[in-house]
Amino acid sequence: MANLLKAELIRKSYKVSNNPFKARYLQVLQGVSFSINPGQTLAVVGESGSGKSTLARILVGAEKPDTGELLFNGHNVLADKKFAWYKSIRMIFQNPRSSFNPRLTIEQILAEPLINSRAFNRFEIQKKIRIALERVGLRAEYASRYPHTFSGGQRQRIAIARALILNPKVIVADEPVSALDVSVQAQIINLLLDLQEELDLAYIFISHDLGLVQHFSDKVLVMHKGVQEEYGPVGEVFSQPQSQYTQKLLNASAGYKRAIEI
Ligand SMILES: Nc1ncnc2c1ncn2[C@@H]1O[C@H](COP(=O)(O)OP(=O)(O)O)[C@@H](O)[C@H]1O
Ligand SMILES: [Mg+2]
Repeated sequence: MANLLKAELIRKSYKVSNNPFKARYLQVLQGVSFSINPGQTLAVVGESGSGKSTLARILVGAEKPDTGELLFNGHNVLADKKFAWYKSIRMIFQNPRSSFNPRLTIEQILAEPLINSRAFNRFEIQKKIRIALERVGLRAEYASRYPHTFSGGQRQRIAIARALILNPKVIVADEPVSALDVSVQAQIINLLLDLQEELDLAYIFISHDLGLVQHFSDKVLVMHKGVQEEYGPVGEVFSQPQSQYTQKLLNASAGYKRAIEI
């Protein structure tokens, strides 16, 4: 059976000089491959600038790779312009403050993807918003409030509700808890784990925190300057890292050494 999501040799470069005689390109992803199935978590780790967010944007269709394939249930999504895979793969960003339009109420924020999909009437939209808020542990009455009236943790719950509202199969979470206090981080991670179990979601979890990754993930993809250094089951990669870079990353991570209690 085909994997839920499979990436094959994804490459991406950005033009970094506009000189027509001397175009320069920055190779941001140099052949990234992985696969993931329902209920699994793939962690993507690597220092800042290694290409993690670029990979995330490609996975949700916000950018196109130069070459490589993305297969969703075996379906080559990059080759098929009509196939709306972005409904099935949704993103959660690091900073819940900047990811919302401050002039919209929570109801308007959550309604947006539903209205854009043109698949639901007003009554269905309201019902879905109520269910989504309850699912992330927020009260349905909050729908009429504005984002700035919530705490960081509550805003990240709203971001999760928005990501879930079209019933996706894959959630790409780009450092979803690194802007939050440690105690709130644990609550959000627990919520993500509960939702994964309830909805059989696949997570692509971008994180700096190797302790969290070890606790939370099935597989890990280690990125270094756009190169895929290592990819495999998290237990194997962390106990017997094959690449020097992974070893360095593990040694540098204080969080890896303390056992995280969630
Ligand atoms: N639109 C862009 N144009 C040019 N360079 C970019 C663009 N987006 C990202 N980059 C560069 O690509 C590299 C990887 O960035 P990014 O994917 O954000 O890494 P990470 O999320 O791992 O920190 C960085 O060197 C960054 O400066
Ligand atoms: Mg990033």
